[in-house]
Amino acid sequence: MHEVLGKQVLDLFASSQGLEIDCNLQRAMKGESFSLPAMLARTSGQARVIRNRDARMFDESDLVWAMLAYSPWRDDEGAIAGVIVVVSDRTERVQAKRKLNDTWSRSQAVINHMLDGMAMVSSEGHIESFNLAAERSFGYRAKEVIGQNVLMLFLCPFTYSNDCTLEQCLVSGKKGISGVGREVLGLRKDQSTFPLELVVSKIALRGGHLFTVLLRDISTRKAAQEELGVITERLRQLAAHQESVREAERSRIARELHDELGGQLTALRFDVNRLSQLPGIGLERVGQLRDSLDAAIRSTRSIISDLRPPMLDHLGLWGAIEWYAEGLARRCALNCQILICPNLEDLKMSNNVGISLFRVVQEALSNIVKHAEAQSIILRAKRLDDAVIEVKIIDDGKGLNREDLDKTGHWGVLGMHERVRSLGGELALEGAPGQGTTLRIRLRVS
Ligand SMILES: Nc1ncnc2c1ncn2[C@@H]1O[C@H](COP(=O)(O)OP(=O)(O)OP(=O)(O)O)[C@@H](O)[C@H]1O
Ligand SMILES: [Mg+2]
Repeated sequence: MHEVLGKQVLDLFASSQGLEIDCNLQRAMKGESFSLPAMLARTSGQARVIRNRDARMFDESDLVWAMLAYSPWRDDEGAIAGVIVVVSDRTERVQAKRKLNDTWSRSQAVINHMLDGMAMVSSEGHIESFNLAAERSFGYRAKEVIGQNVLMLFLCPFTYSNDCTLEQCLVSGKKGISGVGREVLGLRKDQSTFPLELVVSKIALRGGHLFTVLLRDISTRKAAQEELGVITERLRQLAAHQESVREAERSRIARELHDELGGQLTALRFDVNRLSQLPGIGLERVGQLRDSLDAAIRSTRSIISDLRPPMLDHLGLWGAIEWYAEGLARRCALNCQILICPNLEDLKMSNNVGISLFRVVQEALSNIVKHAEAQSIILRAKRLDDAVIEVKIIDDGKGLNREDLDKTGHWGVLGMHERVRSLGGELALEGAPGQGTTLRIRLRVS
């Protein structure tokens, strides 16, 4: 203090400021009280008031943002005898404000450079900010939407099936909505629509809250998904077509084998029988010939049966399934319980459905034999309603893991899925290690 006492007040200011300070002192001397911001710079141990534009000539740490409050100083008679100048240091406050501004500008830059659209929405649903990507997606300039209700950006009613509307999400702040991505239809300025994924997050503020709404334009993703869906569907149709061609080809070969080869073998067997009755024929040799012929007939029948189970034509689907499952269980020493509801018998179904279901059951049973190490099988078929059937095949084997079904190079389960799907039905395979496996098919047959 001793350094300044007795000095001219103007000595505390840079010479360039002298005039201005003088004016301020004069104003106060005339009885006026007022405050003005000022910038001080510390030079050689002294702080001097400088002009703002000269601040860059000083080190940041030497600058002081101050508020100079001028007021007249009156003597006992009330006459103005001088001026009181109160200098308050506001450096910390100014620096904090600058930092805040910096942070704000930085976050604005990040938000504006985001690829996804983003809007800040007040708790009443009014748009408070709208970034560049959102401008591009919706065709609005930010100033056209700020202050408007956010619902103007969507086609109402919303296309998502959730029980919570956007208005409820944004305005009532219904619990559990934050961060959930949901699809809605966005409405552009030109009234065209586009698919949009919405992610809403609620930010608590002092005395209220704000929503950040992420507006992701998913037109490209949707188009790609649709294209993929079409390609997948076509591949499915192709696979189903190939399967039916293969079945038809198998039936044709089975028929040829049965009619041609089967017929000839039976005729030969008859001839051999007659041969054995002729005098002078070695019976032992004829016996060997007959055995060979019988083996050839059995093999042919087995090949025909694999190609197109004759039981399918003779007994119908349910009879053929029963015959096949019983035969397999007998051969593999499995305990097999078959429960086929009698009202299935009068259900009409096409040849294609019949053979496909038979093949699925065949694959399911063959998987049990190959992989399950089961003791027993339950095969249950029933009618759920007029034309819907349900087939369940339950084994008590070692069960399966998810990974079993994801293995590459194994086609049985995939084939079962495809067959059932191509008929418009659904197939589920459930199991847990050590708890057996259940296969369930549901299918509308007419
Ligand atoms: N009933 C079952 N019990 C236990 N594991 C099973 C059962 N059914 C299927 N699996 C598992 O699922 C896997 C996939 O079966 P999938 O029928 O697709 O192939 P695969 O039988 O191994 O070969 P293939 O292509 O000849 O059918 C099997 O390798 C097996 O590990
Ligand atoms: Mg298999």
